[in-house]
Amino acid sequence: MTQDELKDAVAATAIDEIRPRLERDTILGIGTGSTADRFIDRLAALRHDFRGAVASSDASAARLRGHGIELFELNEAGSVPFYIDGADEVNAHLQMIKGGGAALTREKIVAACAERFICIADASKRVERLGHFPLPVEVIPMARSYVARELVKLGADPVYRQGVVTDNGNQIIDCFEFMIDDPVAMEARLNAIVGVVTNGLFAARGADVLLLGTEQGVERLL
Ligand code: 5RP
Repeated sequence: MTQDELKDAVAATAIDEIRPRLERDTILGIGTGSTADRFIDRLAALRHDFRGAVASSDASAARLRGHGIELFELNEAGSVPFYIDGADEVNAHLQMIKGGGAALTREKIVAACAERFICIADASKRVERLGHFPLPVEVIPMARSYVARELVKLGADPVYRQGVVTDNGNQIIDCFEFMIDDPVAMEARLNAIVGVVTNGLFAARGADVLLLGTEQGVERLL
């Protein structure tokens, strides 16, 4: 199976997972990326079975709107029963690196307000140890060089993601050569650097369920 077929399979399984739990007043949290896009496209057929969605990016908002799914502000929704999103890496504890699509801040905020985070990913995303994928860090633009110097002190090789402005008007630094032994501690350590808005470690609040697309079928990991 191709990676795209595996992404399709996990998107379909995620629909099966949430469909019996949808109510007319349900507002879903929706992630960002090519796997989340596949989920959104399948969600369109259920749009009359729930109230709407909170999007984690302008791109996902546009896709949801295009399918006629009503959008809500998170402040209006309060909390969401499910947040469905992809990942760049995920380990056995369902801790993740996210932000390859630069949407990490809003993703982390919506995930924080979710009763259940359902991670949907193809098998290439499963890792023993987080860090092969360069860890994204969203920074306030004027702090970029300072934050990069602090990241070097922590052992990373920081690279400014040229030409990318996040939905929040900020910039992204990707941390190369940065293997992570203690994701919860590192997430907190990075958050403490002045000028960091968010880092792409989703460890303190990881996923609750991982739907992993493999050649043998979709694995459901808790
Ligand atoms: C965007 C993300 C995505 O969830 C992550 O990059 C995975 O994307 P894809 O489903 O396209 O592989 O964190 O900021």
